[in-house]
Amino acid sequence: MRVWRGDLSGADFADYVMPRVEGAVVLDVIHRVQTGPAPDLARRWNCKAGKCGSCSAEINGIPRLLCMTRMDALPEGEPVTVTPLRTFPIVRDLVTDVSFNYEMARLVPPFAPGPPEADGIYRMTQIDVERARSSASASSVSCANTSAT
Ligand code: FES
Repeated sequence: MRVWRGDLSGADFADYVMPRVEGAVVLDVIHRVQTGPAPDLARRWNCKAGKCGSCSAEINGIPRLLCMTRMDALPEGEPVTVTPLRTFPIVRDLVTDVSFNYEMARLVPPFAPGPPEADGIYRMTQIDVERARSSASASSVSCANTSAT
């Protein structure tokens, strides 16, 4: 595991050789690094279920969720490089300042359903069903603000 360590004043990669564990995701290994050789490693996570987005980082240069990326899906025999998301300002190690997300979430108006139909029942039109499906499938890297809505 090759992990980016540091902050804006200076950073470098640190290598950690960790035992292989069947079924592990990258977040599991990061936790083991933190509870073992690097207790001061800064990282963020919350749900470990691919819902909150707080574990977002770059794995081998690609933005992904640490909790949803299986170790056995990554190239074997090569270091797995974990770096903070380049999109956001660095705080320290794998933690970035995502306050911009919260600012943008405040600009999104809350959902307000239209009136019910004449029989008093709310119904979705097919176009809204399709829109909800495409929106759900497009969120492979979830937004950290889902709990704010
Ligand atoms: S901890 Fe990974 S998405 Fe929530």
